[in-house]
Amino acid sequence: MAYLELIQIEKHYDSFHALKSIDLQVEKEQFVVFVGPSGCGKSTLLRSISGLETVTSGRIVLDGRDITSMHPSKRNVAMVFQNYALFPHLNVFDNIAFGLQLQGLAKADIRRRVERAATLLHLETMLDRKPKQLSGGQRQRVAIGRCIVKQPKLFLFDEPLSNLDAKLRVRMRVELLNIHYETRNTAVYVTHDQVEAMTMADKIVVLQDGRIEQVGSPLDLYERPVNKFVAGFIGSPQMNFLEGRGSRANGGGISFVADGLGMLKLPLFAEGLKTDQALTVGIRPEHLELEPRSQASQVKAVVNIVENLGGETYLHAEVAPEIPLIMVKLHASHGPSRGERVVLHFPADKIYLFDAEGAAIPAKLLN
Ligand SMILES: Nc1ncnc2c1ncn2[C@@H]1O[C@H](COP(=O)(O)OP(=O)(O)OP(=O)(O)O)[C@@H](O)[C@H]1O
Ligand SMILES: [Mg+2]
Repeated sequence: MAYLELIQIEKHYDSFHALKSIDLQVEKEQFVVFVGPSGCGKSTLLRSISGLETVTSGRIVLDGRDITSMHPSKRNVAMVFQNYALFPHLNVFDNIAFGLQLQGLAKADIRRRVERAATLLHLETMLDRKPKQLSGGQRQRVAIGRCIVKQPKLFLFDEPLSNLDAKLRVRMRVELLNIHYETRNTAVYVTHDQVEAMTMADKIVVLQDGRIEQVGSPLDLYERPVNKFVAGFIGSPQMNFLEGRGSRANGGGISFVADGLGMLKLPLFAEGLKTDQALTVGIRPEHLELEPRSQASQVKAVVNIVENLGGETYLHAEVAPEIPLIMVKLHASHGPSRGERVVLHFPADKIYLFDAEGAAIPAKLLN
């Protein structure tokens, strides 16, 4: 049995169905990240695990104990929120120690645990300060410290870094990972941030509309998305999609036709493909190439917008007015300029195919 098991979780808020048949297993010491669009149910699921929400049906089992109907304080989980909710009148030490003092732990024990957490979080020199004398990142560390000292079975984080500026977010991300490795805790972490999800997670859970779309390692989801939604959600900038119709071509391969594009020959074999079926071709911006190579399909385009980020350059290329701009990510500080004509090469091994319902169609390279 897994360390944390969510079994057929359903949640209704009156007539609104917020969580739908959620099944999930989290192993001990895993760092699991929930991602998905706003309103998809990430916080609801996290709050259900913590006990701040009651589920309509289903079971939550933590370390072999059914905690589904247990009071939040008895579950042995700790939650860190986006707004850290520190007590303004208490200093850092007392803010961190608060839960332990409530539990009635011995003073010496409390001091030992708080000092250990403070060292881990680089707060040793700030124990006497009040929250208003701390930066945003330091306040967030105090909130995390308050959880660490409780030695919970499970850490729950709901967008803990989203109130911090970009630079601090990067630093705290690394610190959180360090704490995770040092304390070997099990964590469920909600974020909007692609980079946080990809870099922190052992396992990412992609949610949409109250349902789990896919669960897997960051690379699994990046390389083998099960559907168009996950393909578009994981990866930044997002995958390009061309909508059209596909058929098996004479002599092998797939002929793909779309308004404005004409016919594109794909050197791929897809077993399930019917004749003239609705088909979406997906390709990631980082996989498009401007130089020809074998086993690639070609599309002519005109560069419309150039975004230069220093080490990399994003091109927005127009194939035809009726086709959304295609994004190309170049690992270079220079590239074609606005108005320039380019040929986009779609390496066959990097092409994704999706059917009318958005499900991924497995395809093999023609040899
Ligand atoms: N107490 C409530 N009563 C009714 N509906 C609610 C309640 N709480 C949340 N919802 C609805 O449930 C859905 C999921 O909300 P939730 O807060 O879990 O989304 P989320 O994925 O965390 O979104 P965000 O990324 O914006 O934080 C939303 O449509 C929301 O409006
Ligand atoms: Mg939320």
